[in-house]
Amino acid sequence: MNYRHDFHAGNFADCFKHALLVALLDALTRKPAPFCVMDTHAGAGRYDLESEAAQRTREADSGIRRLLAAWPTPLHRFLDLVETLGVYPGSPTLTHALLRQHDRLVCCESQPDVVHGLRRVLRGDTRVHIHQRSGWEALGALLPPPERRGLVFVDPPFENPEEFQSLADGLAKTHERFAQGIFAGWYPIKRLAAVRTFHAGIAQLGLRDIIAVELNLREPLDPSRLNGCGLIVVNPPYLFEPHARLIAEAVLAGLGPAEAGAGVNIVRLADE
Ligand SMILES: C[S@@+](CC[C@H](N)C(=O)[O-])C[C@H]1O[C@@H](n2cnc3c(N)ncnc32)[C@H](O)[C@@H]1O
Repeated sequence: MNYRHDFHAGNFADCFKHALLVALLDALTRKPAPFCVMDTHAGAGRYDLESEAAQRTREADSGIRRLLAAWPTPLHRFLDLVETLGVYPGSPTLTHALLRQHDRLVCCESQPDVVHGLRRVLRGDTRVHIHQRSGWEALGALLPPPERRGLVFVDPPFENPEEFQSLADGLAKTHERFAQGIFAGWYPIKRLAAVRTFHAGIAQLGLRDIIAVELNLREPLDPSRLNGCGLIVVNPPYLFEPHARLIAEAVLAGLGPAEAGAGVNIVRLADE
C-alpha cells in the first residue's frame, strides 16, 4: 500500500469529512449515555502542514488554510477545534477532544509507523484503544461496542475502485452487528458512474435511514481528479441533514470562487 495521508492532510476533503464528524460527535454528546467511536482507518492523528510531504502537494493551501482565513459561521465549531488542537488534527484527535469521561475511542490502522505516531499523539488515555489491524476485519471482530451507542467512522484510502465495494460491505457488516449505531463512510467523487453504482448498491441493502452528503468542486469530467467527495451516513442524528447541508455549503463557499458544476447535494438512499 502506497497511501500516505501526510500528502493530503487538511485538503478540502479532510475539512468536509472532519466538519461533519464534529457535527456527529456533538449530536452524540447531547445525551448523557456513554458512547463509543470506532475509527476504522484512523491515520496518524496529527499532521504537520510544514512537512516535506505536505509542502510537496500544498493541498492544505486550498483547504484548511482558506477556511481558517474565511472562518464561515457554520464551521466555527470545527475551526475552533482545529485552532485549539493545532493544525492539522486527524479524525482520532478531533474525536478524542470531544470524548467525555465515560466515552471511548477505538482506532484501527494497518501501517505500523502510522500506528506508532498515533500512539504518541493519544498516549496515556485509558479511554482510547489503538489496534494495529485491518479496519474492515475489526468491524466483524470489535462490534458491537458494550456501550451499544456510538459511531463507526470509515475513511479508507480509496487507492483502488474496489474500495467502494469494501465500504458497502463494511456498512452491511456494521448493520448486522450494531444496527442502532451511526455509520459514516467517506468516498471520493472522481467518476459519476462509480458513485451512482455505489449508491444503487447501498440502496439495495434493504437498510433504513441512509443519506449521502456530497460536495462537488466541479463537474466530474476528468476522472483523474478528485472532483468532489461524499459521506454516507446511516442513522443520521435528529436534524443532522439540514446541519450537514449548512456545513458542506460553508466548506464550499469558504474554499473560494467556485468552478462550473460546483455544489452540495444531499441524496436520500433509504427512507427513515
Ligand atoms: C484517508 S487516511 C485516514 C485519515 C484519518 N481518518 C483522518 O481523518 O485523519 C486512510 C488510512 O487508512 C490506513 N489503512 C489503509 N488500509 C487500511 C485497513 N485495511 N485497515 C486500517 N487502516 C488502513 C492508511 O494507512 C491511512 O492511514
